[in-house]
Amino acid sequence: MVRDGSRSVKTPSDRTEKREKTKTSRCLPIYLRKKKKVEERFITMLIQRALSRARVPSTSRYFSSLSSIQMQTINLPKSPPFSFSSNNHGCNFLKSKPSSVSSPYSTAAFSLGKSNRKGVVPLAALLQIGGVQIATDDVVKENDPTNNVPDSIFAKLGMQLHRRENHPLGILKKTIYDYFDINFPGKFEKFDDLCPIVTVKQNFDDVLVPPDHVSRSYNDTYYVNSDTVLRCHTSAHQAELFRNGHTHFLVTGDVYRRDSIDGTHYPVFHQMEGVRVFSPEDWSGSDMDGTAYAAADLKRSLEGLAKHLFGAVEMRWVDTYFPFTNPSYELEIFFQGKWLEVLGCGVTEQAILHASGRTDIVAWAFGLGLERLAMVLFDIPDIRLFWSSDERFTSQFSEGKLGVKFKPFSKFPPCYKDMSFWINDGFTENNLCEIVRGIAGDLVEEVTLIDNFTNKKGMTSHCYRITYRSMERSLTDDEINELQEQVREAVQNKLNVVLR
Ligand code: DAH
Repeated sequence: MVRDGSRSVKTPSDRTEKREKTKTSRCLPIYLRKKKKVEERFITMLIQRALSRARVPSTSRYFSSLSSIQMQTINLPKSPPFSFSSNNHGCNFLKSKPSSVSSPYSTAAFSLGKSNRKGVVPLAALLQIGGVQIATDDVVKENDPTNNVPDSIFAKLGMQLHRRENHPLGILKKTIYDYFDINFPGKFEKFDDLCPIVTVKQNFDDVLVPPDHVSRSYNDTYYVNSDTVLRCHTSAHQAELFRNGHTHFLVTGDVYRRDSIDGTHYPVFHQMEGVRVFSPEDWSGSDMDGTAYAAADLKRSLEGLAKHLFGAVEMRWVDTYFPFTNPSYELEIFFQGKWLEVLGCGVTEQAILHASGRTDIVAWAFGLGLERLAMVLFDIPDIRLFWSSDERFTSQFSEGKLGVKFKPFSKFPPCYKDMSFWINDGFTENNLCEIVRGIAGDLVEEVTLIDNFTNKKGMTSHCYRITYRSMERSLTDDEINELQEQVREAVQNKLNVVLR
């Protein structure tokens, strides 16, 4: 069963079905796969980079999938602009090069307003996350083929919705904190300000994500350069926290994934990671070995958490696969008439603990997507709403009030625009969506493949339906026509497809 990292409120089978439908479009070009020489690989990078540069969104990583990347790992030119140093939590944080820009980060500069710089949102030049200064140019590098971070994604860095007390994500985070504080008083340390710019090693290698795993592709992950990514899961911090001796911790943060566009997927979302370590004395008095003991404690603890959040619901455990745990499970609850995946978890692979210098311990870990849970707990119908600064949204939530049902202030009409084109080998839906989101921002609600055929000459045509809908106002025909025109032009120029 393919799962998508705890982030969708769609059922896993919905998601799998959509994946199947668009699988071919996610493959990298066959001719790219065949090339072997280094120069040719570099050209590949340039092409990919051009494709990826189209701003915005995208989807799921399948940590629960075994699927491999469709292309061999490319040796990218290295241009690390960062040095890493430890902060007082003992974590590596990015230190940007000294920047000449002195304007402080201001949230006002991150409004989700219409783009004005080559179709993107206005940017703050410098921001602070976890005591680290980050400049735009450290993260967005137009001419660097090893970078695929668009301005629109940079604009989300530092927003830290999970740290806003009266925001649904902040309220949910706090409720989960309460559960652990009540049941394990004084035990769990909380980290919610760790820098989301991490090394490839932290994000993938340290948690045993295989070298050819699909999640490492430029199509799925935002790379700052060949060694540095925007974390695509909070598990990226696990190994380092183990190394620094932490035994009970919760890490909450924004995570970044290139993805398709619909009501439950957004290129930035929020996760919480929980970890608990056991020493031999913990399980020695039991009749279990360390792994069985940790697994039993994990299940007990997380069932308690689900009850704390959802009340007395029916629950079930589903065996699954994650690279970082063994055994691995997903917890599902029966809620509002259907089974909902709440989180992924398992007993941490010994190799992660050993590499972190911990030999005699066992640990459990879990990861959950805050948006997917908040959407059902607060009845929030569209993931874009979390980013809304409209008072009609923000005023409905307050600290300590989990599960207050969101009252839609109105439903504005959607507007559909279809576009058809002949794709090329390098076409991916994520690249298309990034272009659309970069131009239309949060005015785009969904991008769906509605027709797909290959003619006798072997040319493949895709027709996508773009749904435009604002959550805050009615859109005018003129406005949408203009957006659609820009999308068509950008799709043609950046993706090198032939419009029909
Ligand atoms: N990192 C996983 C994801 O993003 C979620 C996860 C699953 C975290 C299992 C864990 C875990 O710590 O044990 O899909």
